[in-house]
Order: sequence, then structure tokens, then C-alpha cells
Amino acid sequence: MALGGIVKGKKTTLRTPVEGDLAAYNRWMADLRVRHLTKPWHEPAMPATWKEHLKSQTKDKDSILWSIDADGALVGLIRFEFGWGDHSWGWVNQLIVEPDLWRKGHGGDAAVALHRFLFDYLDLRRLNATIRSDAAGALALARRLGYVEFARGHEVHYRDGGYSDELWMLLERPTWEERFAGEREYAPLGAVAAPARSKGGG
Ligand SMILES: CC(C)(COP(=O)(O)OP(=O)(O)OC[C@H]1O[C@@H](n2cnc3c(N)ncnc32)[C@H](O)[C@@H]1OP(=O)(O)O)[C@@H](O)C(=O)NCCC(=O)NCCS
Repeated sequence: MALGGIVKGKKTTLRTPVEGDLAAYNRWMADLRVRHLTKPWHEPAMPATWKEHLKSQTKDKDSILWSIDADGALVGLIRFEFGWGDHSWGWVNQLIVEPDLWRKGHGGDAAVALHRFLFDYLDLRRLNATIRSDAAGALALARRLGYVEFARGHEVHYRDGGYSDELWMLLERPTWEERFAGEREYAPLGAVAAPARSKGGG
């Protein structure tokens, strides 16, 4: 997969990343508001290094990277990783929205579009996420999608003079289908009638 194609949400669109996006990626990875809540995809670096990262991502068959657009402008990125040796499950490795645009619904819309693609189109069976206990936005998003906590690392991350936990969360396909039953973007596999065979065809 490596680089994702177009996946449309209601107010955001996931699209193939291009070199012109890399300056914003670099800025987000350096932004303390982002670094406070999640592990950066890569450390801030020179443009040539970012081009190398994008080139490597292009060759990575076990993950997918998208840029997120809204109102015709770049507003974030998503990176998804498939399970090791098993592409029937995976986890959201990165979901970052431009910090100046937080709480306008971009993250939620992009996350629903992504999960539609993963469950309804790629037919995955379950997704994991690890979220820090003080990442209020990410937790609200995950819970709205139906993720439930199944394990917890205690006092994993230290900052601001104290520790925060790390929540391990799981979303199984039946939960997704129950919650978003009426909102399918892609027909279920097998629901599309096979084209009629011509007489004598083999
Ligand atoms: C998580 C993130 C992508 C959310 O993006 P966003 O565009 O602000 O998301 P939305 O505006 O769609 O808000 C999503 C939900 O989070 C809630 N939320 C967002 N920020 C919040 C905050 N600081 N405190 C409490 N709730 C918050 C919103 O109210 C909304 O809840 P709802 O679905 O119940 O209405 C963004 O905060 C971000 O980039 N964070 C840094 C990286 C990160 O933590 N990524 C997740 C790692 S998996």
C-alpha cells in the first residue's frame, strides 16, 4: 500500500502525500503541542531527509500514509500500520491535525473516513490503538468510534512533573458495524452481483 489514495470524508479528504506536504509534516513533528500528546512519526529534519522518509514510505508494504485536506488545504496526516505478517488487522500509528485547527471536527471526520476504508473496503477484522491517558482529543475520538480499553500501562510517560498512563484500545469489526451500520460507504464484500457469464464461457 505505502501511500494511500483518495478516501472521502464529509469535510476532509484523505489523499496521496506529495513532496509539497513535507514542510508542514516537519513543522508538526517539531510542534510541542503535538509532541506532548503523541510520539512523532520522525524527528524534525532538513528537507532532503524528509524526502528520504517519503521515499522509504513509498516502498513500505506494511503501512499506508495519507495527507488530510480540508477546504482545499493540507490540515493533517494519517499513518496506518498493518499487523506483522498479517494484513487482516492493524493500528493507527499517526493521526495528526494542524494544532491551530484543533477542535473544528477535522480529526473526527478523517478518523471516520479512515475506519470506513479499513473495515468496509479493506475488510479488516480488528484495529488497535495505544493512546496516552492525557490525550483528551484522541481518547474522545477513539471512544466515539467504539474502541474499548483492554490493557493499561501505568505511569508510562513523564511530563509536566508527573506521569501519564498508556491505554491499549481495541475496536472489533462487529462493534464498528453495529455503530456505523447505516453509514456504509462501500458495499459489503460479496454483495456486488458477479457479472453474468456469456454462454459457453469458461
Ligand atoms: C487527536 C487530534 C487528531 C484530534 O483532532 P481534532 O481536529 O481536534 O478533532 P475533532 O475536532 O474532530 O475532535 C474530536 C473529538 O475530540 C474532542 N476533543 C478534541 N480536543 C480535545 C481536548 N483538548 N479536550 C477534550 N476533548 C477534545 C472533541 O470534542 C471531539 O469529541 P466528540 O467526538 O465527542 O465531539 C488532534 O488533537 C491531534 O492532532 N493531536 C495530537 C496527536 C494525537 O494525539 N494523535 C492521536 C494519536 S493516535
